[in-house]
Amino acid sequence: MEVLRVIPKPSVLLYNASMSELTEYEGKATMEKITSLAKRRGFVFQSSEIYGGQSGAWDYGPLGIELKNRIQAMWWKEMTRLHDNIAGLDAAILMHPRTWEASGHVENFTDPLVDCKKCKSRFRADMIPEENLAAKKCPDCGGELTDTRKFNLMFKSHIGPAEDTASVIYLRPETAQGIYVNYKNIIQSNRMKIPFGIAQVGKAFRNEIVTKNFIFRTCEFEQMEMQYFVKPGTDEEWFNEWRKQRWAYYEKLGIKMDHLRWHQHGSDELAHYAKDAYDIQYLFPMGWRELEGVHNRTDYDLSRHSQFSGKDMQYIDQDNNNERYIPYIIETSAGLTRNVLMILCDAYDEEQVADKGNDDDWRTVLRFHPDLAPVTVAILPLMKKDGLAELAFDIRKELQDDYATDYDQSGAIGRRYRRQDEAGTPFCVTVDYESKEDGTVTLRFRDSMEQVRVPRTELAARLRQEIKLYKRIK
Ligand code: GAP
Repeated sequence: MEVLRVIPKPSVLLYNASMSELTEYEGKATMEKITSLAKRRGFVFQSSEIYGGQSGAWDYGPLGIELKNRIQAMWWKEMTRLHDNIAGLDAAILMHPRTWEASGHVENFTDPLVDCKKCKSRFRADMIPEENLAAKKCPDCGGELTDTRKFNLMFKSHIGPAEDTASVIYLRPETAQGIYVNYKNIIQSNRMKIPFGIAQVGKAFRNEIVTKNFIFRTCEFEQMEMQYFVKPGTDEEWFNEWRKQRWAYYEKLGIKMDHLRWHQHGSDELAHYAKDAYDIQYLFPMGWRELEGVHNRTDYDLSRHSQFSGKDMQYIDQDNNNERYIPYIIETSAGLTRNVLMILCDAYDEEQVADKGNDDDWRTVLRFHPDLAPVTVAILPLMKKDGLAELAFDIRKELQDDYATDYDQSGAIGRRYRRQDEAGTPFCVTVDYESKEDGTVTLRFRDSMEQVRVPRTELAARLRQEIKLYKRIK
């Protein structure tokens, strides 16, 4: 959980990975390579680049939006469709400003900030070495640092024509509060009974002091959150259950499980509302970092909304003599955009190969799970002429309804495979002269680079089977 860090605490060591843990990345995925590939292939662009860029904001290009949508769809299926008692919601980003007083964000959603008086650099006090903080010495130039002061991370604006205190409005810093203020609506409209959950995916905004590492920490980002409402006293059991389920979800995504670990929050890290909190951390090229948090938020949020709104937020248990209580909330909170980065890092590979038709023997490959790959199958005619392009185009049309497809007819076939490898396309279909004669095509697999001949009529079914049985080999 990254919210509400009131106490400045050097936490640099917490995130550092050992050299052996990072060796796997050596010479392969680095943040520079991933950022460069993301731009080159249209996954992610810097926001407003022609004006020099807007820090903390990124634009998702054609491949990036497909990847982000697929990650979101997987999460949504996992958290709503596969449960009988979890409902979806899409609440507004702009909420009544009292929401953020009730939630504690106006008072507590702060980061500790220090400035260098000499070079004017600005740092989060909990991200610079302890000795620099103690000696008030700038880690960049050695100049004198200011005292630590609290800096609220919420973006503040005004609604309506008057810019006075009555018109203050905030961009939401977490999606969770939209769920809490709607919890009674959802009980009534959907006749939900405790335990039940509400899931939401949406934008959140934080005025982050440090926004390096590409899309890892940004000012505008997306969260995938699920709030599970339970009877007090059963909260610890549900907390453990949701930890289990979230871990199993990442296993199902097929990512490298030795790149995941749990981190339990110490008493000095716990947010003011949390009784217990665990982060799922991922081993990014820059070290272990938070990917998702599972939090026991107790009855804090609903009690506070009850107090600030004057509305009764108790649940009435009609199956149990109308027993009344404020539910406890178990939250699972993942960053969608941070998941995009994790999936890119996890999929990135470089390997030496020797397949025919190529003039260089190295390839960069994104080993996405086929369910996540922005393009599932690329159709490549060996030649543009002799009716091969038309035939390939026809095959593409046939597959388009069921699969995300791409069509590429330019350049040597080896180069075209490389381009698809770099975009993470798991399957390529090559149409050649034999295809015209006997109705078969070449199906090429991204990971193994193996090629098999398949009758065109069996292609759709074969792809379905390959996707279902997919197992990552590296
Ligand atoms: N509702 C609880 C909450 O917001 P959090 O730990 O502050 O908890 C949850 O955020 C997740 O949101 C994080 O695990 C991370 O994946 C993502 N996240 C938080 N701040 C972010 C930022 N500035 N940029 C990108 N993702 C962020």
